[in-house]
Amino acid sequence: MTDTIRWGIIGTGGIAAAFARDLRLLDDAEVVAVGSRSQESADRFGDEHGIARRHASYADLAADPEVDAVYVATPHPGHHDAALLAIEAGKAVLVEKPFTMDAAEARSLVDAARAGGTFLMEAMWTRHLPHVLEIRRLIDDGAIGDVVLVTAEHGQWFADDPEFRLFAPELGGGALLDLGIYPVSFAHMVLGTPQRILAASDPAFTGVDAQTSAILQYAGGAHAVVTTTLRAQSECHASIAGREGRIEIDGVFYRPTSFRLVRRDGRHDGETTTFAFDEPGHGLRYQAAEVGRCLREGLTESPRLPLDETVAIMETLDEIRRQVGLTYPGLD
Ligand SMILES: NC(=O)c1ccc[n+]([C@@H]2O[C@H](COP(=O)([O-])OP(=O)(O)OC[C@H]3O[C@@H](n4cnc5c(N)ncnc54)[C@H](OP(=O)(O)O)[C@@H]3O)[C@@H](O)[C@H]2O)c1
Repeated sequence: MTDTIRWGIIGTGGIAAAFARDLRLLDDAEVVAVGSRSQESADRFGDEHGIARRHASYADLAADPEVDAVYVATPHPGHHDAALLAIEAGKAVLVEKPFTMDAAEARSLVDAARAGGTFLMEAMWTRHLPHVLEIRRLIDDGAIGDVVLVTAEHGQWFADDPEFRLFAPELGGGALLDLGIYPVSFAHMVLGTPQRILAASDPAFTGVDAQTSAILQYAGGAHAVVTTTLRAQSECHASIAGREGRIEIDGVFYRPTSFRLVRRDGRHDGETTTFAFDEPGHGLRYQAAEVGRCLREGLTESPRLPLDETVAIMETLDEIRRQVGLTYPGLD
């Protein structure tokens, strides 16, 4: 491993561009290559982001000997095959969220990475943000006591456009997989794997889900209430209520933001402490920094988001989809 982690990006869309920009904020990482389905797009992206090595196929990017780590930034149905190319080429791989279309695809990638001894991580960038690390520390320290209730919601407004990725079934569209993954992953982070799930959903005009909600019930009696929509711009807030206090995360909870710790005092609210975090970029550099840390320490997965947890998150999404009858082309 070189001192600088040399990244290659698969896909040349919106989040690939944001990732390339944010990596400029790291001293020990650099985007050295891009892979696209076309030479034209690879060249355009390379020109825009100052990337010298431009490949006209994902396979060529995966095979590039100058690349240490591959970031997969295609629409969700492409994640599995693109990530597998990179794993089989022996690269460290960071795969956009949702990790795959379902848990079966997720297990396939995890098995391949473990068999090859290579690093693999879901790009749930929120896990690595400073406010989230601080929240986990506070919970672990007992600041709010045993967690009773997690609420998290993610709503964005999009114009009805059948061509747009979020409405297209063949591109894995719908609220749950794209937006709902944030509240679901957040609930998993705080409470682990649910024992029981109750879900409801309403379809968009293309048949993907426009709005989906679920109650996740846990062995110790805790609940998580998660909801997502692509019909309205919501506050995107999250909160964690425990026996001794609560954490209120300001919208947008999954981006760099501020939060308050409110401790219970007798029967009422007691002391409130506000935590604020500044971030010069989008916030994607933290997950790249975590990949770098893991590679330098010889880890093949991140303790912040182990692969078994990523698979469990996909299982939760599968169960929600099963209950509401949400299917996609090509999935069993
Ligand atoms: N972390 C975040 O904040 C965040 C934000 C947005 C999206 N995402 C995730 O990132 C992934 C990509 O989202 P995006 O918004 O960047 O998508 P996008 O703008 O549509 O770009 C996707 C890219 O993937 C490639 N691609 C491969 N097969 C494709 C196909 N059949 N149709 C269209 N493009 C295809 C294209 O690059 P080439 O033509 O060059 O191959 C395209 O530029 C999604 O899984 C999404 O969930 C994450």
